Amino acid sequence: MEGTVSSVDKKIIAVVGATGSQGGGLCQAILADANGGFAVRAITRDPGKEKAKALAAKGAEVVQADLDNVESLKKALAGAHGVYCVTNFWEHFSGEKEIAQAKNIADAARAAGVKHIIWSTLEDTRRWMALDDDRMPTIMGKYKVPHFDGKGEANQLFIDAGVPTTFLLTSFYWDNLIHFGMGPRRGGDGRLRISFPMGDQKLPGIAVRDIGGSAYEIFKQGGAFIGRTVGIAGEHLTGAEMAAGLTRALGEDVHYEAVSPATYRRLGFPGAADLANMFQFKRDFNELFCGTRDVALTRRLNPSLLTFDQWLAQHKTQIPRGAILS
Ligand SMILES: NC(=O)c1ccc[n+]([C@@H]2O[C@H](COP(=O)([O-])OP(=O)(O)OC[C@H]3O[C@@H](n4cnc5c(N)ncnc54)[C@H](OP(=O)(O)O)[C@@H]3O)[C@@H](O)[C@H]2O)c1
Repeated sequence: MEGTVSSVDKKIIAVVGATGSQGGGLCQAILADANGGFAVRAITRDPGKEKAKALAAKGAEVVQADLDNVESLKKALAGAHGVYCVTNFWEHFSGEKEIAQAKNIADAARAAGVKHIIWSTLEDTRRWMALDDDRMPTIMGKYKVPHFDGKGEANQLFIDAGVPTTFLLTSFYWDNLIHFGMGPRRGGDGRLRISFPMGDQKLPGIAVRDIGGSAYEIFKQGGAFIGRTVGIAGEHLTGAEMAAGLTRALGEDVHYEAVSPATYRRLGFPGAADLANMFQFKRDFNELFCGTRDVALTRRLNPSLLTFDQWLAQHKTQIPRGAILS
C-alpha cells in the first residue's frame, strides 16, 4: 500500500528497559507510529512476564537478554539499527553495577555495529562537588549521588567503545508522585503537603512517557544528535508551583514543605541519603541543572509534551492523598 513501510524495511530499535517506564514509553511511541519506519525489539530478562507479552501483542519483537551478560546482549542487538538503554539503579543500589552494565551494552553495541545508541544518563555530580567537599556526605565511599554518578561516569565507556551515542539527561518523573512514594501526605494538622529539599529552586520534571516520545524523535533525526548530550524536561517548577498545581487538580489545598537535605536524609528509607544529596545538588547547582534541560528543545522533539497541569489532569485520580506522615 502506498505510504506504508513494510516490516522488512523497518529499522529495528532494541529497547533495554522496554517493560519499564522509560523504555516502555519509547516502545509505545514507536508502535503507535506504524509508518514511521522503525520497529521495536523489546529486551527483557523475562519474555514470559505480562508487560513483555503485552508488548508482543502490540507488535513488538520480544527478545531475552540480561544487562549483566554481555553475550546475551550481543545476540539481542544483532541486526538492530538503534539501541535505547536505561539501567535500573533502584533494583540493586550499586553504582558499580550500573557502570558494569553500561560497559556491557556499549561493548555489545559495538560488536553488533549499531548505528545509534541513546544512553539514559545523569550528571556525575562529583565533577562539581569533590568527594572531600563536606556540603553533602559522601556515600559508599566514592559517590555523592550514587544513582547519578555511576551513570555519568559510564558516559566515557560509550566514547571509549566508539559507539555513536546520544547522552540523554532525563528529569524527575512527575509519576514519582504516584509510584515512588513522593506524593502528597497528610500531616498531623490534616493538611496535605509535598516535601522536597529544594528550597525555592526549580525542579525540572517530565511525564515519564514523554522521555520515550523524545527519544523516538532523536532516533528519527539520526545523525543530528549523535555525539551530543541532550537534556529533556516538560517544565521547571518550584515546589510551591507543584503544590499549586496539585491543589488545582485535587481540589484540596496542598502545600510545599521545603525540608532541609539533612531532614530528608533522616527519613531513613532505602535510598533516602542518595535522594537527599540529589535534591541538594539540584538546588545548589540549579542554574546548571535547569540549564541543561531545555523545555523548548524537548517540545520541538515531542510536540505532545505534557505540562505538569496536563499530566495532573490525566493522573490526578492515581495520586495518593491519604497517607499520614509518621
Ligand atoms: N524516577 C525518576 O524520577 C528518574 C528520573 C531520571 C532517571 N531515573 C532513572 O531511571 C532508572 C530506572 O528506569 P525506569 O524508571 O524506566 O525503570 P523501571 O520502570 O523500574 O523498569 C526497569 C527496567 O529495567 C530493566 N532491567 C533492569 N535490570 C535489567 C537487566 N539486568 N537486564 C535487562 N533489563 C533490565 C527491566 O526489565 P525486565 O525486568 O523486564 O528484565 C525494566 O524494563 C533508574 O536508574 C533511575 O535512576 C529515574
